[in-house]
Amino acid sequence: MFFKFFGAAIAFVMAGLPALAETPLERGRYLMNSIVACGNCHTPQTPAGPAQGMELAGQFLMSIDPFTAYAPNITPDVETGIGGWTDEQIIAAIREGRRPDGSIIGPPMPVEFYRDMSDNDVKAIVAYLRSVPPVVNVVERSTYNFPLPASHGDPVISVAEVSRDNLVEYGAYLTTGLGHCWACHTPLVNGQLDVENQMGAGGQILDGPWGVAVTPNITPHEDGIRDYSDADIAQAITKGLRPDGSPLSPPMAFYYYQNIAADDVAAIVAYLRTIDPKPLP
Ligand code: HEC
Ligand code: HEC
Repeated sequence: MFFKFFGAAIAFVMAGLPALAETPLERGRYLMNSIVACGNCHTPQTPAGPAQGMELAGQFLMSIDPFTAYAPNITPDVETGIGGWTDEQIIAAIREGRRPDGSIIGPPMPVEFYRDMSDNDVKAIVAYLRSVPPVVNVVERSTYNFPLPASHGDPVISVAEVSRDNLVEYGAYLTTGLGHCWACHTPLVNGQLDVENQMGAGGQILDGPWGVAVTPNITPHEDGIRDYSDADIAQAITKGLRPDGSPLSPPMAFYYYQNIAADDVAAIVAYLRTIDPKPLP
């Protein structure tokens, strides 16, 4: 009886003060196993979820006309992973898409969205990357049939924390800087994501072991989620189910998204309701 009461009191305090209760490593563990989900690309995936003992050890991703992409080993193994990189070098790889030798990281790593990651969150992710077991695994290099840009934009010096007080703004941060939802849910025009005009309109074709998936429209348009209840949207994101209960297709990171905290899901839903409605292309 006493313990039951005590546990409830602690849970209540932690729910009220998440920022104070969390260490960077705890924050990183939460992010990496929920909304950020780097493992959806960097961990070998099986139909049952991420492969055992291979967390973040890299895998073949896709071969399409313009490129063949492999997600590298980002475990702390010094020889085959990123164990020899400094924190600053890892942060530059994530937010600026640049390796320590100055070479540019190519698609589909969603660097243009990770630019918005706050200093605290990117440091929390680095703390988590340092905590996973090193795995010796040599991954092939990607090949691109076009020149990669000289950079992914201006250097990212510092990104401030986004306050949770404004649900919609925090939802925008979760969806963009942390979750890179637009990388899949926005159509390509001439090979480039048309975020400016068609953010969230869907229609991208994603071919893989799951077959061919066409990303749905997730704007508040009638082609999108206008008629979904908040619970329908939350269920799609965290359970991978349509309102009628039928399963949605990979490669959305459902295995990781099931761990997104209810407050964060609510912020994402609130934000999705506010974006410009756009028709499916
Ligand atoms: C959509 C798939 C995808 C996601 C999501 C993704 N990456 Fe990557 N990442 C890649 C690919 C592909 C490359 C290699 C591109 C190339 O060869 O130029 C890469 C390269 C890297 C590199 C450079 C490693 C090296 O040895 O060259 C690091 C570090 C990295 N990613 C970290 C991360 C982290 C941390 C996250 C999550 C915050 C993340 N990535 C999310 C696909 C992804
Ligand atoms: C790696 C690509 C990818 C990423 C990243 C991604 N999604 Fe998806 N999403 C998909 C695919 C594929 C489907 C399901 C397609 C199908 O089964 O018809 C889907 C389905 C959905 C649905 C269901 C829509 C419907 O019509 O029922 C919602 C809502 C959704 N995604 C929201 C999000 C949000 C929010 C994020 C970011 C947290 C996100 N997605 C990130 C690929 C992605």
